[in-house]
Amino acid sequence: MASGVSGKVTFVTGGASGIGAALTTELVRGGAHVWIADRQIGRAQELAQGLTHGGAKVRAIELDVRDAAAFERAAAEAQRESGRIDYLFNNAGIGVSGEVDTYTLADWNDVFDVNLHGVVHGIQAVYPIMIRQGSGHIVNTASMAGLTATVGQTSYSASKHAVVAISRSMRVEAERHDVRVSALCPGVIRTPILSGGEYGRIGQPGVSADEFLEAWERLRPMDADEFAKRALKAVLRNDAIIIVPAWWKTLWYLDRLAPAVTLRLLKVVLKRQREMEATSAS
Ligand SMILES: NC(=O)c1ccc[n+]([C@@H]2O[C@H](COP(=O)([O-])OP(=O)(O)OC[C@H]3O[C@@H](n4cnc5c(N)ncnc54)[C@H](O)[C@@H]3O)[C@@H](O)[C@H]2O)c1
Repeated sequence: MASGVSGKVTFVTGGASGIGAALTTELVRGGAHVWIADRQIGRAQELAQGLTHGGAKVRAIELDVRDAAAFERAAAEAQRESGRIDYLFNNAGIGVSGEVDTYTLADWNDVFDVNLHGVVHGIQAVYPIMIRQGSGHIVNTASMAGLTATVGQTSYSASKHAVVAISRSMRVEAERHDVRVSALCPGVIRTPILSGGEYGRIGQPGVSADEFLEAWERLRPMDADEFAKRALKAVLRNDAIIIVPAWWKTLWYLDRLAPAVTLRLLKVVLKRQREMEATSAS
């Protein structure tokens, strides 16, 4: 349990589902005050009610991270009511799958608007608060897809590479304000995003949702609760890049040592994906 967060004020975007909900639950267990900020306000309120039952301080707030002004207002409200913001988990995200030759402009923009601009809006709203406090920790959820190339989800991968770049650069700059910055890079975690979540579009033409989920299962997804426990330990250690499950680090190291090898591996993955489509269509 992350008891190092006891009494800390935390703001979790996308906190109503999956990884965000698991982070919220673990933070509350550790004694933190949590603001759950999500577009899915009903789910956020339900989670907050369940957790408040034990006397914890949890608040649900409706927020669409694509709206910079709304993010400013939500952060100001949290700061005004809780006195400070110690941790910002810039976690809201969506995925849109498909090969680039099938993308519409909206397939790029929908992903960039949430995964990249949503993170930027969080930084713009909360970093000044942390600078004034002289402390804070911004944890941006990227992905393994932000560390290595992928196929069939290029817009997602591009947005997550940008989040890693922002986090690493900002980490160095923010040191002088005593603000910490980390990039959270989950491998595959069993959450609704694997089948599109509430706002994304994940799947392959002709491949059923069950077949698609079965393909994810081959990558041994981790449960979100276990992920949150491990990720929060690494956050408290102030790791720069947090990869959970740890075995995904092998792919990251391989990509840095021998990028041509990962590209060859991706060709195999893409071939399998295309075969799956062809078999399902026939
Ligand atoms: N699950 C995985 O395997 C995995 C792997 C790598 C990275 N991630 C990242 O982890 C983060 C959390 O995803 P998850 O797996 O828990 O998925 P999820 O679909 O369960 O949760 C995503 C949450 O973000 C919220 N959200 C989406 N758009 C929003 C917006 N515009 N404004 C506010 N909230 C919004 C959703 O309502 C939902 O609560 C995402 O950034 C995702 O890209 C997940």
